[in-house]
Amino acid sequence: MLIDSYQRQFHYLRLSITDVCNFKCDYCLPDGYDCSNPREFLTIDEIKRLVTAFAELGVSKVRITGGEPYLRKDLAEIIRVVKNVDGVDTVALTTNGYNLETQIEKWVDAGLDSLNVSIDSLKSDTFRLITGSNKHQSILKGIDKAISLGVKNVKVNAVLLKQFNENELTDFLQWIKFKPLSLRLIELMETGDNKTYFAKQHVNGEQLKNKIENDGWLPIVKSKVAGPALEYCHPDFQGKIGFILPYSKDFCASCNRLRVSSVGNLHKCLFAEEGLNFRHLLQSSSQLSQLKVWLQTQLDDKKETHFLQDNKTGATKHLAMLGG
Ligand code: GTP
Ligand code: 5AD
Ligand code: SF4
Repeated sequence: MLIDSYQRQFHYLRLSITDVCNFKCDYCLPDGYDCSNPREFLTIDEIKRLVTAFAELGVSKVRITGGEPYLRKDLAEIIRVVKNVDGVDTVALTTNGYNLETQIEKWVDAGLDSLNVSIDSLKSDTFRLITGSNKHQSILKGIDKAISLGVKNVKVNAVLLKQFNENELTDFLQWIKFKPLSLRLIELMETGDNKTYFAKQHVNGEQLKNKIENDGWLPIVKSKVAGPALEYCHPDFQGKIGFILPYSKDFCASCNRLRVSSVGNLHKCLFAEEGLNFRHLLQSSSQLSQLKVWLQTQLDDKKETHFLQDNKTGATKHLAMLGG
């Protein structure tokens, strides 16, 4: 089992398969993806070997992230390969949703269990201002399609932004009244590239969470492979609401996930130092034991918290690098 010196267990792997993105979210890639640094992303064989090693060490949930994962044309194949690894019971995907409407059936056929989509606003104009994309309506339809196809966990991410959506809570709540999805309000995180933006746009999510609690929403107990959201349900709503509050006390105490970048770097935290490359250990199945020992050893010095104590943002320039 993967366990660190603070007794945290790691059952959840977040695997980025590309860092390329076609949206220009204001808080992430305001100038769009920088194409000047060509690189080779992990191949399907490398992905299979790495997920096998993590699964043999107790990882049961793999979230595929980007950039935007669908920019890899072999995404469905990757979902299939990951789902077929012994020990993996949940394959999840985080996408900006730009082709969700046309692709979701294919992904579900390939074995997708759970889907997270970013929708920072329910207003198409605001959505366009934030992301640079005019696919808002199509993404909303794609979400409905995922629900109707029976995807168990459909989650919608909205990053809280002062200028854009701080006052949209009522609209969001109305939207999830009859929709069985989990809406997660995410506090903007300060990364290496968004310092000024952060100072201008950061909204404290704690107050919204208090409001929800006062309105009769009830906390849901987390599973061992759940992400960081504090989720709530309400008898009058089909949807759930969750809060991701990275600046709250003890946020890192429940960390249960490790990250691998699209070029095969292990990141012990979203904000950790530069990742450690282990691609050389992914070249043959005969390296499996060596890879497992290496992974376990890496956890010995995972820090208690990487970015809260000393208020440093670490090496992560923007979340597209690692898929959040
Ligand atoms: P699930 O419970 O699997 O749905 O996980 P998730 O909520 O982590 O998935 P998603 O990819 O939708 O990420 C939502 C937000 O949570 C993103 O902004 C992530 O960066 C953030 N997040 C996830 N894990 C961590 C973490 O370990 N640290 C911090 N600071 N943020 C995280
Ligand atoms: N702070 C908080 N969330 C962010 N995301 C991207 N950048 C940031 C940031 N700086 C979110 C995206 C997506 C998820 C994977 O991460 O909106 O929903
Ligand atoms: Fe937006 Fe995600 Fe693309 Fe960043 S990686 S620009 S948050 S869609």
